[in-house]
Amino acid sequence: MAGKVYIETHGCQMNEYDSARMRDVLQDRLGMTPTSDEAEADLFLLNTCSVREKAQEKVFSRLGRLARYKESRPDVLIGVGGCVASQEGEALRQRAPQVDLVFGPQTLHRLPDLIMRARQNGNAVDVSFPEIEKFDCLPEPSVQGASAFVSIMEGCSKYCSFCVVPYTRGEEVSRPFDSIIREVVGLVERGVREVTLLGQNVNAWRDSLHDGQPADFALLLRYVSAIDGIERVRYTTSHPREFTDSLIQAHAEVEELAAHVHLPVQSGSDRVLAAMKRGYTALEYKSIIRKLKAARPEVSISSDFIVGFPGETEEDFDRTCRLAEEVGFDQSFSFLYSPRPGTPAAELDNDTPLEERKARLAWLQKQLEAQGAEIAKTRLNTVQQVLVEGPSRRDPEELAGRASDNRVINFKGPEDLIGTFQPVRVTEMRVHSLRGDWASAP
Ligand code: SAM
Ligand code: F3S
Repeated sequence: MAGKVYIETHGCQMNEYDSARMRDVLQDRLGMTPTSDEAEADLFLLNTCSVREKAQEKVFSRLGRLARYKESRPDVLIGVGGCVASQEGEALRQRAPQVDLVFGPQTLHRLPDLIMRARQNGNAVDVSFPEIEKFDCLPEPSVQGASAFVSIMEGCSKYCSFCVVPYTRGEEVSRPFDSIIREVVGLVERGVREVTLLGQNVNAWRDSLHDGQPADFALLLRYVSAIDGIERVRYTTSHPREFTDSLIQAHAEVEELAAHVHLPVQSGSDRVLAAMKRGYTALEYKSIIRKLKAARPEVSISSDFIVGFPGETEEDFDRTCRLAEEVGFDQSFSFLYSPRPGTPAAELDNDTPLEERKARLAWLQKQLEAQGAEIAKTRLNTVQQVLVEGPSRRDPEELAGRASDNRVINFKGPEDLIGTFQPVRVTEMRVHSLRGDWASAP
């Protein structure tokens, strides 16, 4: 079945990665080409997120509009994947009969088969968790540019009391060591210079080497960084519970490791952290950061915060603000707690008025923005190594790339710099990016 596929992606980087794999498998097995024009699609895929209520609501309003579209184009197949699909399964087709196929994050490699079944009006719902079969069945990933994501594990077994991910993506399963190394070597052969190792908790990754020696995430990082042609390695997301001394040591010794770690803290109050079932205290979190900064002084730390968790008092919230200030986070994310059906926290009463919770969030966001701006200021007049990704979104006359600390830097330079590392002297601060001059300009 040739034809065109339009894929719309919501949510996290794992979903971005999964959407790219969907594109690859459809092209490889069915000869389908991707399109960015909805009107010419024969297959419409929605890759969804259910981590917060708003994200889930978006999916259903999108499906409502697609129902009308399908009336005028009954030949178009509509598929829903990702976490909403996983959560709803068969019920999704009852609620939205315009949907022809439903697949989960762990069954996207079965898409060609599901499409065939949908065409024959058969059962086209598969949201099972067939362990790591996905990676054995996917074609080699296509490459766009010099930076690529590599999924190293699926699912999450932490069961934080507020989070749907363990239910929608299944338990933690590590991808085998050989399969990861093979993929990175293949990417390098096709021009990739930077990889981001992906997973809900990358540092929970475990496997063993050929001689039976146990391998942890720190060892994997060393092997990936040693591959010829790999110049920079990132990873996301890591969890404080498995942020071991061997991982910290890797930051001191492996120069390919980017000077940036995203380490979600969620709250600075031990009472709230316990209720969230995060498995660490604020002091333990700060101790990881202290050791990490001692190992790699220039490392920049970003984080995720949840504000307004049930039972969070003014004092708990103050502790979060204080922790944020002490750590000096850069470019972080903060969210209002959103009760998710089926999670233990959804059963808890939330006595704090919504207005108060929103005010706390606004306060924290302002503080985090100010901290980020302070850090950006320290970059002025320094030279940063930028991996040039492509034309800047803001000004197509300029190029954009990321520095080791994950900041976006725009500068003027010839197009053939795309895909290479270039020194850029920072001259200007913008709200969420920096501007600079190409330091190797002839
Ligand atoms: N694996 C990561 C970790 O170690 O925490 C995070 C995965 S989650 C998809 C991304 C972020 O969404 C979390 O760090 C958390 O801040 C936020 N999040 C998850 N569930 C949430 C909820 N019910 N309400 C608000 N934010 C939530
Ligand atoms: Fe969610 Fe906690 Fe895992 S936030 S993805 S259950 S580490």
